[in-house]
Amino acid sequence: MSHILHQRPLQTPLSHSSFSPPSSTNPKRPISLSTPTTLLALLLLILFMGLLCPWLGLMPQNIIFSVSNSYSYSSSKWGHYTLDQALNFVAKNGTVIVCIVSQPYLPFLNNWLISVTREKRQDMVLVIAEDYASLDKVNERWPGHAVLIPPVLDAENAHKFGSKGFFNFTARRPSHLLKILEHGYNVMYNDVDMVWLADPLAKLEGNHDVYFTDDMTAIKPLNHSHDLPPPGKKGRPYICSCMIFLRPTDGAKLVLKKWLEELQLQPWSRAKKSNDQPAFNWALMKTAKEVDLYLLPQAAFPTGGLYFKNKTWVKETKGKHVIIHNNYIVGFEKKIKRFRDYGLWLVDDHAEESPLGRL
Ligand SMILES: *[C@@H]1O[C@H](CO)[C@@H](O)[C@H](O)[C@H]1NC(C)=O
Ligand SMILES: *[C@@H]1O[C@H](CO)[C@@H](O)[C@H](O)[C@H]1NC(C)=O
Ligand SMILES: *[C@@H]1O[C@H](CO)[C@@H](O)[C@H](O)[C@H]1NC(C)=O
Ligand SMILES: *[C@@H]1O[C@H](CO)[C@@H](O)[C@H](O)[C@H]1NC(C)=O
Repeated sequence: MSHILHQRPLQTPLSHSSFSPPSSTNPKRPISLSTPTTLLALLLLILFMGLLCPWLGLMPQNIIFSVSNSYSYSSSKWGHYTLDQALNFVAKNGTVIVCIVSQPYLPFLNNWLISVTREKRQDMVLVIAEDYASLDKVNERWPGHAVLIPPVLDAENAHKFGSKGFFNFTARRPSHLLKILEHGYNVMYNDVDMVWLADPLAKLEGNHDVYFTDDMTAIKPLNHSHDLPPPGKKGRPYICSCMIFLRPTDGAKLVLKKWLEELQLQPWSRAKKSNDQPAFNWALMKTAKEVDLYLLPQAAFPTGGLYFKNKTWVKETKGKHVIIHNNYIVGFEKKIKRFRDYGLWLVDDHAEESPLGRL
């Protein structure tokens, strides 16, 4: 599996060469590969940059990565598909189910989608693609179900700690979700290392602003409180930013705005680059008095740290599980193995159930 993490830079330009360019009115359209001359020039440029790399301290991969993204943009059939159009197309009853993926996560996306399809909710799914390769892949097989919210992150800036690009990288989840609320839709966000065993939309009791799940492994009584849990050792709770349902209310928007603000305040380290969870927790804590928050039941939405580690608890709560999250484990290979061990890696035998088919 890990090979797919390293192949993207070289694959993208060629695998998309058959796409016709969109309307040429796009001011950002950076480079045309349509003639042999420009292709040659680009190749020379890449080689030249490759020679400079040791001096600049840059990885050649990253340079090719940026170029390939630029190219894909000009070649993507779906580059001009807007969030507004996408929401209008997928929403049912004013509600959408979203996930955010880049190319390496496509197998997980497919696995999650099979489970969503079994609950007959796939029509409401909008995949927010973080690169043009994912955008085109999903829409080619399942037209209209993926959208890209510009700007595309360029790998170089996104990883420079302290840069605007770095902030953008961590800020994308709350920023995407806020845009969806501002369009007036309810939104359920899921990480794609999840599998549905039942329909979570049917479990959203009441009419609260924001619903979320606890990432703590400590076992709670079935009748536990639905308030935001008290702060733990780090001065904040441990709510998971992996599964969130929001209504387009002032309260929910306030939480997302606070989340963005907290991301800017916190001294994020490079190692934690994609970890937006602490900031989400500070935001919940600081807005709890003004916003109607709802903690979902642990038995229905257990953290992976509980579900995969305590067989007794799983037996005791059998029939109550709604979403299983494959967290508390690091690495694609390990996650896949664990899903397989538990019969939750559905793409092996059930790929035909996914709207994307076998990827
Ligand atoms: C939309 O809402 C109506 C009324 O609440 C419900 O009967 C229907 O099943 C919902 N449709 C979907 C796709 O959830
Ligand atoms: C960061 O995001 C803002 C707004 O979305 C955008 O205008 C800017 O170009 C981005 N910066 C980088 C370096 O990606
Ligand atoms: C849960 O049930 C126990 C025992 O019936 C009771 O003592 C406790 O107060 C209940 N907790 C909540 C939050 O309702
Ligand atoms: C596992 O779950 C059982 C049943 O809920 C509980 O009594 C036990 O303490 C749990 N074990 C651990 C290590 O948390």
